[in-house]
Amino acid sequence: MTQTKIGIDAGGTLIKTAYIENERIQYRSFPSQAIDDAIKWLHDYFEKPAICVTGGRSQVLAKKLNVPAKTVVEFDATTEGITYLAGPQTLGRQFLFVNVGTGTSIHHVTDGRQERIGGSGIGGGTLLGLAYLTTGMQDYEEIVRAASDGNREHVDLKVKDIFEGLLPPISGDLTASNFGKAEWMREHKPSDSDMLAAIIGLIGEVIVTISTQAAAQYDTGAIVYIGSSFRSNPLLQDILVAYTRLVGKEPVFLPNGEYSGAIGALLAID
Ligand SMILES: Nc1ncnc2c1ncn2[C@@H]1O[C@H](COP(=O)(O)OP(=O)(O)OP(=O)(O)O)[C@@H](O)[C@H]1O
Ligand SMILES: [Mg+2]
Repeated sequence: MTQTKIGIDAGGTLIKTAYIENERIQYRSFPSQAIDDAIKWLHDYFEKPAICVTGGRSQVLAKKLNVPAKTVVEFDATTEGITYLAGPQTLGRQFLFVNVGTGTSIHHVTDGRQERIGGSGIGGGTLLGLAYLTTGMQDYEEIVRAASDGNREHVDLKVKDIFEGLLPPISGDLTASNFGKAEWMREHKPSDSDMLAAIIGLIGEVIVTISTQAAAQYDTGAIVYIGSSFRSNPLLQDILVAYTRLVGKEPVFLPNGEYSGAIGALLAID
């Protein structure tokens, strides 16, 4: 029997695993709080596997595993995983990737080598935190489902709302001020769905602004967006696609992109 190989990316919010079964890569994730469940599954499901761990919580996980495990640097593992998922040459010699995890990290890749060039504390954790504060909701899937029914126009101020009766110098449909309709909101309290849609709008617009500015600075064409924050969240994806294209860059979403780090760890096992 060949030894099963498992790559693990232990992030701040989710533990992602990638392993080979029936000659195919399989994926499974666990909440980082449920680290003991993840470890139990690893012990119960696999017999003496070869394990490689990456991510901010890799040391915590490796210690709890109680079996030997290799560790690799997260940013490099993520780059390997992206290159594997995209396939050779499809992204060109240089591209950016933006990992929207608990927070957001921006990387420039040239000839397979990455350099971290920026980031923001605005990320998937911001969605969970602000969703809780504004609506009391705690379940991720419930939050993104509710957001899909929301109307941002009840919360956000658009350019055309300011330039009343006057031709605005930029598209009137752009956001002038996220959550900027304070006066209107005092009279018309937005629904939970409206607030959640506006939170996703705020997060998406901050991320796409810094990402496209970085792409302009480094003169890259493709921006690869990865991270579990895109799971079941077409609203966030749509914002990034629209604004990335608006400035002439190509947004790329890879199937299973949130497992890039785990795949990179898997590939690092000899
Ligand atoms: N089942 C889920 N439970 C909680 N959050 C989820 C879930 N599915 C998607 N998410 C979203 O994905 C985000 C976490 O993304 P990801 O797994 O890429 O981050 P991470 O690797 O744990 O964090 P980091 O890389 O910043 O340490 C959460 O903040 C949340 O917005
Ligand atoms: Mg991560």
